[in-house]
Amino acid sequence: LTPRQLERVRDLIEQRAGIYLPPARNDVVRRALAERMAACGAAAFHNYARLLAERERGASELRRLLPYLTIGETGFFRVPSHFDALRALVPQIIANRPSGVLHIWSAGCATGEEPYSIAMTLADMGGAVRGWQARILATDIVADAIERARLGCFAERALRGMPREQIARHFRLRDRVYEVSPALRRQVTFEEFNLAQAPYPRAPGGWDVIFCRNVTMYFREATTRQVAARLARVLRGGAPPAGGGFLLLGPTEMIGCWSEHFRTIEAAGAFVLVKEPAGRRRHGMSTPAPGDSAGHAHARPTTRAPASAPHPPLNEDEICARALGAIADDRWDDAQAILDQSGPRGRFSAHDEPGSCRVATAPRSPRRWLLRAWLKAARGEREAAAELCGTLLASDPLLAGAHYVLGLIACRAGEIEESIVRFQRAIYSDHDLAPAHYHLGLACCKQGDAAAARRAFRAALRALERGSEAWRDFAEGLAPEQWRRACQERLAALEA
Ligand SMILES: C[S@@+](CC[C@H](N)C(=O)[O-])C[C@H]1O[C@@H](n2cnc3c(N)ncnc32)[C@H](O)[C@@H]1O
Repeated sequence: LTPRQLERVRDLIEQRAGIYLPPARNDVVRRALAERMAACGAAAFHNYARLLAERERGASELRRLLPYLTIGETGFFRVPSHFDALRALVPQIIANRPSGVLHIWSAGCATGEEPYSIAMTLADMGGAVRGWQARILATDIVADAIERARLGCFAERALRGMPREQIARHFRLRDRVYEVSPALRRQVTFEEFNLAQAPYPRAPGGWDVIFCRNVTMYFREATTRQVAARLARVLRGGAPPAGGGFLLLGPTEMIGCWSEHFRTIEAAGAFVLVKEPAGRRRHGMSTPAPGDSAGHAHARPTTRAPASAPHPPLNEDEICARALGAIADDRWDDAQAILDQSGPRGRFSAHDEPGSCRVATAPRSPRRWLLRAWLKAARGEREAAAELCGTLLASDPLLAGAHYVLGLIACRAGEIEESIVRFQRAIYSDHDLAPAHYHLGLACCKQGDAAAARRAFRAALRALERGSEAWRDFAEGLAPEQWRRACQERLAALEA
């Protein structure tokens, strides 16, 4: 396949399914095409391209091609704090309504673990939702995934991490296969649906809850913005506790694309999106409502240093400098405590008060947040780190450091393609961010792309030569000379 032909297929997939396949995924596209061309008996690419371009037959061939190109990674109760938020907010949504039906949409549900987790959460809420019936629509673009989800049968390993009693309550074990109970299966309707196409499914009065997690991270910004606008149209207006609905996104989603239509609130330790009233829609961070208890964290600190404090509080730069010193000495607990301490603007607003529900705002100076996110990522607290980055990106979608930390998180989780995209975004925003070039090089090595890895390590060396200070917060306690040596060693290994 020529680069031009590959580009044509990638463009077509993006046009029809919204899924952006960066050139780094060319090998995956090539393999998928080889499989499908063989299955269709297409001898040459132009025969297959003609088939794909046809209206009816093309659409059904695309359905067969997509499973090779999408990432269906999922799990029961993935991001547990999202299910805590569901438990905390649903009673607020239904509080002022007569009993009836709660409408929930799991958009991009993969093999069904997500909608079944929603059904289990509601079933386990008992009295809090008595008199209410849950109706869950679960959709995905991949027909095979929907078929498997509909069966509701899972291997034991899919249930890893779930409490035994919960498994006993909601599954039946048959021939070493765990089958979701019929009562829960009746609550979930599975359908094929492509989020890149309108019209979106509607619920009477709007969806009460929408889960659209880890789907748009494979879309480019324009597509994500379109999805955000369409989801806003079908979500119930207002916000809990006033009865409105809410939306949950994956922790690594480009939050900035959503802020025109939604504002972020925090519930039970998770960030959830609620509809921004039409008159207040704007680009960038959400504006707190006049009655919101928390304004911008930096404008109205939640905790102030006591008036009688013996020392004046440290400013942000001093706090960061101390934390970096502790990181350099491998005193990570100390670094964490320093970063978490009260500064002149008060304690961190995120995560202080689990269960509270208020506007999540990023600070004017993101440096401390970024360091905190980096430290959490380095300590394997993936979800907390990703949430901090998500909030930062909501106020500045081009914040290089946040993309960099998300790249590290993805790389650690073995999501190499995602990490490459993140490192590239970080570099796009800040070409001097030497560690992003370096880690991009490592990710390319993992993908077996030696040429790209070489380019990345050389770019890291050039960034180090430019002597910028911008990357120092991510130096991991190493001196520039040590980074330089690391790059040179990698290059030498690649040459060998
Ligand atoms: C990584 S999985 C996420 C599954 C689940 N939401 C979760 O977070 O565990 C992404 C899913 O999005 C689906 N997807 C990708 N593009 C889509 C589109 N245009 N419309 C609907 N679903 C799509 C994929 O098929 C895949 O099953």
